[in-house]
Amino acid sequence: MSAQDLFSADLLSPSVQAELPEGYKLRALRQEDYDLGFLDCLRVLTTVGDISKEEFDKRYQWLANQDGTYFILVIEDTNTSPSRIVGTGALIVERKFIHDLGKVGHIEDIAVAKDQQGKKLGLRIIQALDFIAKETGCYKTILDCSEHNEGFYVKCGFKRAGLEMAHYH
Ligand code: ACO
Repeated sequence: MSAQDLFSADLLSPSVQAELPEGYKLRALRQEDYDLGFLDCLRVLTTVGDISKEEFDKRYQWLANQDGTYFILVIEDTNTSPSRIVGTGALIVERKFIHDLGKVGHIEDIAVAKDQQGKKLGLRIIQALDFIAKETGCYKTILDCSEHNEGFYVKCGFKRAGLEMAHYH
């Protein structure tokens, strides 16, 4: 694993990489992505706040220290100079006692830059996260989404299961 990657490149799906448009690269998050528009990409999803490089690096290091738990991937468009992060998604691997010490994958924070939507990048991100979930031994992968995005996740192979409850603090 390259010291700069959040997780090993062995966990990146070769078939997803092969399906991406020319010059688009699937890879693990890196600290340098702060300067390649990673936070701007996330801004299509929700508010991000004004995060300094120092704060970003501190959070990145914390995530990197949670061995085998946080898998944040990005799609980098290398056709532009400088290159730009145009998509991202996260898988968090939860360790349980139930189901024989089972593991559950939680998909979070899927975002594709506005001008890149509709090119199947969202689908590729979900396929790439599913690949990591299988490789790390998760028996299922779950996520919460709005009614608006249900159709997208159905196209990605998910089905409605249960009901989300929230308690905001
Ligand atoms: N409703 C129904 N179908 C959809 C939707 C939608 N909201 N969005 C995409 N699709 C369909 C596409 O038409 C396509 O269908 P096709 O195979 O018949 O052509 C298929 O789903 C795959 O679409 P992609 O091109 O891969 O979608 P895209 O790259 O635009 O990414 C995404 C979709 C991630 C929802 C993007 O629009 C986005 O970033 N939105 C803003 C942020 C957001 O809402 N993220 C999801 C939050 S939920 C979470 O993070 C767990």
